[in-house]
Amino acid sequence: MQIKFTETVLRDANQSLIATRMPFEEFAPILETLNKAGYYSLECWGGATFDSCLRYLNEDPWERLRKIRKACPDVKLQMLLRGQNLLGYKHYPDDAVRLFVRKSVENGINILRIFDALNDLRNIEVAVDEALKCGAEVQGTICYTISPIHNLESYVETAKGLKKLGVQSICIKDMAGIMSPKAAYETVKAIKEAVNMPVVLHTHSTTGLGFMTLLKAVEAGCDVIDTAISCFSGGTSQPATETMDYVLREYGYETGLDTACLTKINDFFKPYRNECLKSGLLNPVVMATATDALTYQIPGGMLSNLVAQLTAQGKLDKLDEVLAETPRVRADLGYPPLVTPMSQMVGVQATSNVLQGKYKNISKEIKAYIKGEYGRAPGKISDELTKLVLGSEKPLTCRFADTLEPIVPASRKKLKGIAKGDEDVLSYIAFPALAENFFEKRAEKEKNTFTYSVKLIKEDK
Ligand code: CO
Repeated sequence: MQIKFTETVLRDANQSLIATRMPFEEFAPILETLNKAGYYSLECWGGATFDSCLRYLNEDPWERLRKIRKACPDVKLQMLLRGQNLLGYKHYPDDAVRLFVRKSVENGINILRIFDALNDLRNIEVAVDEALKCGAEVQGTICYTISPIHNLESYVETAKGLKKLGVQSICIKDMAGIMSPKAAYETVKAIKEAVNMPVVLHTHSTTGLGFMTLLKAVEAGCDVIDTAISCFSGGTSQPATETMDYVLREYGYETGLDTACLTKINDFFKPYRNECLKSGLLNPVVMATATDALTYQIPGGMLSNLVAQLTAQGKLDKLDEVLAETPRVRADLGYPPLVTPMSQMVGVQATSNVLQGKYKNISKEIKAYIKGEYGRAPGKISDELTKLVLGSEKPLTCRFADTLEPIVPASRKKLKGIAKGDEDVLSYIAFPALAENFFEKRAEKEKNTFTYSVKLIKEDK
């Protein structure tokens, strides 16, 4: 019996515990060990890494990927892609989606885990199609949630739909860490029976269910599990790699992991973890077990965002009220799974409802959602809210991307002389203001380096 591991320390653990602020230089020295530790894949790109590189770290996300690829020639590199949203928070035209996928593969990605927050498969079709054309491995993803309209049958239907799209494996993505061991066992078994494909389970330790959930998933025939090296595991991150390795070996599974490498990786990250704790970047709150999430279904990243948002406004005392408002907003919206970007949208709306009054301010994203611009709501949106936002207007029935004009040619033209390649064009398409800012800083840095080297040459003479 074999079980494969995907290590999340560079992406999801980084995102869930320290808001994706780990700079490349911080983890560069351990890449060589990550490469040979025996992981099935390294989740290292996509999700919030792209945004964070440009926004906070002054790093070119594409260059980060190329550097990881260079340092890790053997292990498969994996990214998380939000279907038609790519790595941003709105839908992009198909030409941008195709180019983004192509460039991700060209720059080093082997596995694309592609999801749509609403499980509306129309929103991942194009990304899946392009990734397959590029020869990448595609994990079609089901966002797991608990609601009156989500059940075993609905998940099996989604899995069948994914198989039809041609994906090579199915990932069950439990972003909130609310999947119980029983649900994991039943869901994995039902999906494996229905589609007979490799199944991957992604969960979080938020509620304390994680280890049990992974174990039961493996018993049900799960093929790959997502874990994080122990000092960046737990809480809103994934269950620990070493612990799962230990348990599964005892049960006779071949994990393929090199224990000495795992120790080395963990020892490497320990001082950085302590630094993050000291600076406050890592808040002990997100490391604890929070069973509230079983009620509120708040995913890892969302809980830390809400805490940060309320702290910034000096309203942390309202956290409990916001947490209680969140499921009400969600029900009004037809039970969207709380995953990016829905988790942020629902969180911001719940915060606004508490601080400013119920639906006094409706964000433009929520309005767009109600118009159908994010895809089909899983359930029915409340009539009251629909009326409030749409009036007599009709919601969209087609895919929102069908209403969008191609964006790549115009963006290439706009960035002529600035962009060094299509990678830059894509950074600009995904995050225009952040990318422009980054290009300016980069140009300045290059100018300075040039002046500096000219000066050195002069002094040499
Ligand atoms: Co996650």
